[in-house]
Amino acid sequence: MTRSALAALVVFLAFASVACDEQLRDIAGPTPNLQPTLSSIQREIFNTQDSSGRLACIQCHTNVGRNPSGGLNLLEGQSFAALVGKPSLLKPGTILVMAGDPVNSYLIHKVEGASTIAGVRMPRGAGPFLTEGQISIIRRWIQLGAKND
Ligand code: HEC
Repeated sequence: MTRSALAALVVFLAFASVACDEQLRDIAGPTPNLQPTLSSIQREIFNTQDSSGRLACIQCHTNVGRNPSGGLNLLEGQSFAALVGKPSLLKPGTILVMAGDPVNSYLIHKVEGASTIAGVRMPRGAGPFLTEGQISIIRRWIQLGAKND
């Protein structure tokens, strides 16, 4: 590859990654800083209520003073072990987060309110629920290998 072709490629990749970030921000809705990493999902989704009024998951999914709702502890530092490769308590035969496979990850079915779930759509209650864009970013984290990142 010539020097100028290489330079053009570097410029192209720089723009491509900026475009990608902008696209993420466009779909992230009420959590504009949401990224497809566990630490970002923890901060923006599990730990916090967002501007739409959607509840924080840890309003219920903790181990503080009681058994966690649905047996699921989503507190920081606990959520990875609670989700990745772990079977659902209420829907035997499903895995909460199947690394690399969002389609077969029960966490996604629960936040989408798929017709096949046991129990109710998450967050429990009348909504607001996660937006399609927020769910896409969680899907992307799983697609990228559901790392403890
Ligand atoms: C108001 C309380 C409450 C909130 C808020 C809540 N949950 Fe739940 N969650 C529950 C209860 C209770 C269950 C068990 C009954 C059921 O599955 O419907 C449950 C079950 C689940 C399950 C299934 C666990 C299993 O092993 O089958 C997942 C996954 C889940 N919640 C994810 C979430 C996520 C992600 C959020 C935040 C976006 C959230 N929940 C917010 C109460 C809550």
